[in-house]
Order: sequence, then structure tokens, then C-alpha cells
Amino acid sequence: MLSEKMQAALNAQVNMEFNAFYTYLSMSAHFENQGFRGFAAWLRHHATEENGHAMKLYDYLNERRGKVTLKALGDPPTEWADTVSVFEDALKHEQKVTASINRLVDLAYEERDHATASFLQWFVDEQVEEEAIVDAVLNDLRRVGDFGPGLFMLDNQLGAQTPAEAATGDAT
Ligand code: FEO
Repeated sequence: MLSEKMQAALNAQVNMEFNAFYTYLSMSAHFENQGFRGFAAWLRHHATEENGHAMKLYDYLNERRGKVTLKALGDPPTEWADTVSVFEDALKHEQKVTASINRLVDLAYEERDHATASFLQWFVDEQVEEEAIVDAVLNDLRRVGDFGPGLFMLDNQLGAQTPAEAATGDAT
């Protein structure tokens, strides 16, 4: 059985992951509007991953006979000055999620809730990967700057790396 405190903390994380979904989708919409279909597809795919993270927590709460309590999502950002700013925001967002996951793990250990600590290990590993992939894109973008052909190449590259369903608009 989950403690009340752990249940509330896991529900807050569900909300954070759905907010991440919304934020990445908004970033994707921004790039669609600008004609960068590769960046748009990549971020849309990332948004579906965030939805998956939220649902993984949702399922765990139910599995432990906790109660899922969904809360409102905030308005995501919709405007960015340039391409680099979008990915800088994405990296900041991932760092916030990582800090939140780490606090959840700390709580699980404090409460000697070993099942939750074990469950959360997947998220700890996932965050290492998530920060690394966003950071890699950001490094490439910083190198390219505003150089049009470079941005065109990176856009194509990210589009090619993205599973087809995100690029064709059939992502679920
Ligand atoms: Fe679910 Fe990208 O953190």
C-alpha cells in the first residue's frame, strides 16, 4: 500500500509528465508553423514518450491500489525567439523532471518503500537518456547557429531519426 504522501507525490509526477507532453507538443506545433517538419516530427514523437511516462506512473498507482487524481495542465509556452531557444527550454525542462524524479526516489527510501524505489529506477535511467539526447541536438544547433543550410540539414536529420508515425501524423 502506498502512503498518502507517496501517492500525492506520484500524482504530482503524473501531472508533470502530462505537462511535458503538452510542452513538447507545443514546441512541435511551433516548428510545423515554421516549416521545420523534421524538428516538428522529432518533438511530436518526444511528446508521445512523455504521455507514456505519465501513463506508466498512472498504471503503477493503480497497481498499488492507490488513487490516480488528475489535475489541470498549465498553458505551455507557444513562442520562441529561435530554434536554439526551443531546445534550451527542452533541456531545462528535462533537468526539472530529473530533479523531481530524484526527490521521489529520496522519498521512497525515506519511507522504506522499496517497490516504489525499484519502479522509479526506470525513470532515473530514462532521464539520463532524455537529457543526453536533447543536449546532443542543442550542441548541433549551437554549432549551426542561424546558418540556413545547416538548419535545413539538421531538420532533415532529426526527421529521418524519428519513427514514421510521428512524421505522418498518426502518433497515438
Ligand atoms: Fe518524462 Fe522527458 O521526462
